[in-house]
Amino acid sequence: MQKIPDHIIDRIRDSVDIVEVVSRYISLKKQGKNYKSSCPFHTEKTPSFTVSPDKQIFYCFGCGAGGNVFNFLMRYEKVTFIEAVQKLAAETGIELPKYKVDEQQVSEYEKLYRAHQFAADEYYNYLKDHFDEIKEYLDKRGVQQKTIDFFKIGYVPNEWDYLYNRINQEKMSIEPFIQSGLILTSEKESRKKYDRFRQRIIFPIHNLSGRIVAFGGRTLSADPNSPKYLNSPESPIYNKSQMLYGLYFSKDWIRQEESAIFVEGYMDFIQLFQNGIKNIVATSGTALTEEHAKLIKRYTRNVFLCYDADEAGINAALRGGQILFENDLEVRVLILPENEDPDSYVQKNGPPAFYALLNEANEYFHFKNEYLENSLKGTDISKRSKVVEELITTLVNHKDPVKQNMYVNLLAQRYGLQENTLMEEIRKRQKILRSRERRTTSIDTVNTSPLAEVKPMTGAWSAEKDIIIILLKYYKELKNLIFSLVEADDFLNEDFRRAYQFIQDNPSTQSQELLHHILALDIDEHSLSLLTGDIFQDIENPDKYLNDCIKKLKLTRYQRDIDMLRSNLKTMSPQDADYQSTLKKMNDSLRQIQELRKVFDTK
Ligand code: CTP
Ligand code: MN
Repeated sequence: MQKIPDHIIDRIRDSVDIVEVVSRYISLKKQGKNYKSSCPFHTEKTPSFTVSPDKQIFYCFGCGAGGNVFNFLMRYEKVTFIEAVQKLAAETGIELPKYKVDEQQVSEYEKLYRAHQFAADEYYNYLKDHFDEIKEYLDKRGVQQKTIDFFKIGYVPNEWDYLYNRINQEKMSIEPFIQSGLILTSEKESRKKYDRFRQRIIFPIHNLSGRIVAFGGRTLSADPNSPKYLNSPESPIYNKSQMLYGLYFSKDWIRQEESAIFVEGYMDFIQLFQNGIKNIVATSGTALTEEHAKLIKRYTRNVFLCYDADEAGINAALRGGQILFENDLEVRVLILPENEDPDSYVQKNGPPAFYALLNEANEYFHFKNEYLENSLKGTDISKRSKVVEELITTLVNHKDPVKQNMYVNLLAQRYGLQENTLMEEIRKRQKILRSRERRTTSIDTVNTSPLAEVKPMTGAWSAEKDIIIILLKYYKELKNLIFSLVEADDFLNEDFRRAYQFIQDNPSTQSQELLHHILALDIDEHSLSLLTGDIFQDIENPDKYLNDCIKKLKLTRYQRDIDMLRSNLKTMSPQDADYQSTLKKMNDSLRQIQELRKVFDTK
């Protein structure tokens, strides 16, 4: 594939703000010159993910992820550099030169995204063109036209191969459709393919950057064997435990309202949204996980669970609420009147009545307490002790020890118990849990990110990196000196060598731009991390430090040369033609080392 010219990439980068782009995915808080957040690339308690508006780069001091706005998108959305550039180009309206896209170069992820976009367009267009077929149903459900357009709701007719045929007509590759479960292969006859979704209203599921990664389909079939809802299976771009339906559309509202309302169904989401209640997400039939808790925490700490009043709804609130509660979210539970779900409730009673319910929502801990009081049986004492047992279970895994203590306090008062007794019980259970965890911890729980631990560096590599950092930071002042002393071949690390070569070859560029060009050189993630991380650090005494670095760099280089020559000599005999010249080279290098020592040590 042709390369996009640097000046165009620069223009795109200059017309977006990394702080704005990153904020679309995570909540950043200003701290001094920089912005901070919990890192989206690894699990951490204290925020070490840092974004610099001045330098337009990000870096995580915890896991070492770093780079500029393109690197962020590459990591977050798992796309290639070109795809990240294309995405921002489209947003800024900057035109990229037309070139033929080599299909080989399109990342696997991008292929999956495109397949979903294609399918979504097909479903949406079908609904538009055959509106009368489904109009009655949509009217009955109170779904407005503007809502259909906004969420790109579609329809797929009762055919075995509606999408399959469209894919073939457009000569699209079938692979990504199969990989994402939109097209299925017959078990009996592997050449036979058919659609997953048939005779269903289709709800596209968007990821946080608005790309479609899966679908949910509600059947319109009268056949009792057809499940009411059918969803996409998991795929490389769709992980159920990390996805909340509608968050792409609601995240700004959630930030603004400083709360998120969890509902169960697609229809609940859509109906509330349509009625102006927009700080919502739907769990769409999946159990809440710790990952969901972390995801929503990026936007708010206040959540409402709004589930059906039936037993299933209450159980979902208890289970889901527990996960959110343990992860230190402020959880409130709102139970609707019997036989209502959020969709039907808001249609019948209007938004003000819904807000009134929100106002009365019960704090999770109290909700659970009341539920236990009402549902457990037994004599007064045995019942009360069971309630306390259950509430201790509720508190054992709470992430915030201060709040945990406060709840224990409350529990002690309410049931007339000693706080110490309760605390001891909690400690005991924590101990048991921890030893159980240790036993079940396996390799897959360590090393969540490829950079989870920044690899230690040898002295020479660190000197190489530091020379580049100093060169970028003190470009005007020190470039001539560095260029006169250091050559690209002095570098052992391939990435740093290319970076240095690049700086030498492009002497007139501004140092800020140089950094971004280096980040675009397709260098290894580990080197990228080292470079961006150190750009954030201040250097106390750059001249002196540079001195040490160059000395280390040169010594390593001559030592390396000597080692190589020495091993060459071992394979030769003194009669060989090259023997004398090799010997001379080796002595030269030895002399160079002595010279170096003299020069640097007297400085
Ligand atoms: N769900 C599912 N598979 C099913 C049933 C339900 O995945 N067989 C999920 C869907 O995401 C659905 C949610 O659970 O939206 C809630 O289910 P339910 O309350 O039965 O559906 P509603 O959203 O109320 O659907 P409708 O109003 O269209 O009946
Ligand atoms: Mn419903």
